[in-house]
Amino acid sequence: MLLDGKVVVVTGAGRGIGREEALLMAKLGAKVVVNDLGGGFDGSGASTGPAQEVVNEIKKAGGEAVANGDSVSDFKGAQRIIECAIDTFGKLNIVVNNAGILRDRMIFNMSEDDWDSVIAVHLKGTFACTRHACVYWREQHKAGNLLNGRIINTASDSGLLGNPSQSNYGAAKAAIAAFSVIIDKEMAKYGVTVNAIAPVARTRLTVEATPATAALMGQAVPEGQFDVFNPANVAPLVAWLASDDAAGVHGEVFRVGGGTVWLMQGWHSVGKAKKSGVWDAAELGTALKAELAKGVTRKETMNDVFAEGL
Ligand SMILES: NC(=O)c1ccc[n+]([C@@H]2O[C@H](COP(=O)([O-])OP(=O)(O)OC[C@H]3O[C@@H](n4cnc5c(N)ncnc54)[C@H](O)[C@@H]3O)[C@@H](O)[C@H]2O)c1
Repeated sequence: MLLDGKVVVVTGAGRGIGREEALLMAKLGAKVVVNDLGGGFDGSGASTGPAQEVVNEIKKAGGEAVANGDSVSDFKGAQRIIECAIDTFGKLNIVVNNAGILRDRMIFNMSEDDWDSVIAVHLKGTFACTRHACVYWREQHKAGNLLNGRIINTASDSGLLGNPSQSNYGAAKAAIAAFSVIIDKEMAKYGVTVNAIAPVARTRLTVEATPATAALMGQAVPEGQFDVFNPANVAPLVAWLASDDAAGVHGEVFRVGGGTVWLMQGWHSVGKAKKSGVWDAAELGTALKAELAKGVTRKETMNDVFAEGL
């Protein structure tokens, strides 16, 4: 099977997309650390229940898994998550940084705590788990133990395209995409690949926490029809990126939902205004408006994504 002999950590794997990623990777032969803090969608509270339920499900199906209830945003907790894989299963091959919360607010209503909490779980949590895993892979590589390390981070259209009321979340998710590209460059020489996904799926984050997507994703799916918003549709991409077969895939960002995987690209120049000398400010404005009028900066929005369908 695709992931036979692999050891994987999936953060936030007690529910939603992470749960499906953990279940599929276990089914494909991986031993799984099911990490989940088990709190509310806004980051409040904690419970060991969701992670343990997924472990029970994996074991019932004949797989191997262990639960971990640490928070990814706690630097030492993140270290325990990584150590849990090595202590329980003897090594670590794959980290899927998936844990997430939402605190949607327009900027004028966003509290310092709303900002800090969301940045802490998404951006710091992704950094912390990645950092501890990369220390381990570098040490192992130096000792001649090639583990084909894989990191799959979780970005979002909210960060790649920009969604109002999610400046905390979108900024963290755009940063996670940039972080993935950078860490991939740092870790390639140790045989590690780092890629990111931007999923689209029905979970409590899109149904309970976000009324705009709840109307679209919360609808019942007629029997026999493909359930495009099923979070299980995201997992095959993650399982493949985690595999040895994806060794050549570096620093990419994929949107994934339903049966579609989009190859995404970030900032790149699409035009320019240039003169051999210092611009006069007003003259520069005229040149830039002419460049912008060519229409090259039209931006895809989240509404375009939903209009296109999955
Ligand atoms: N559902 C979508 O359409 C969508 C779109 C774009 C991005 N995402 C991202 O996908 C990821 C999974 O979200 P989901 O939609 O499955 O939501 P979800 O709420 O079902 O799952 C997120 C899980 O993360 C866990 N978690 C939260 N804080 C944690 C912490 N500090 N440490 C460990 N675990 C923690 C939660 O307990 C929860 O089980 C998130 O990063 C989310 O931002 C989802």
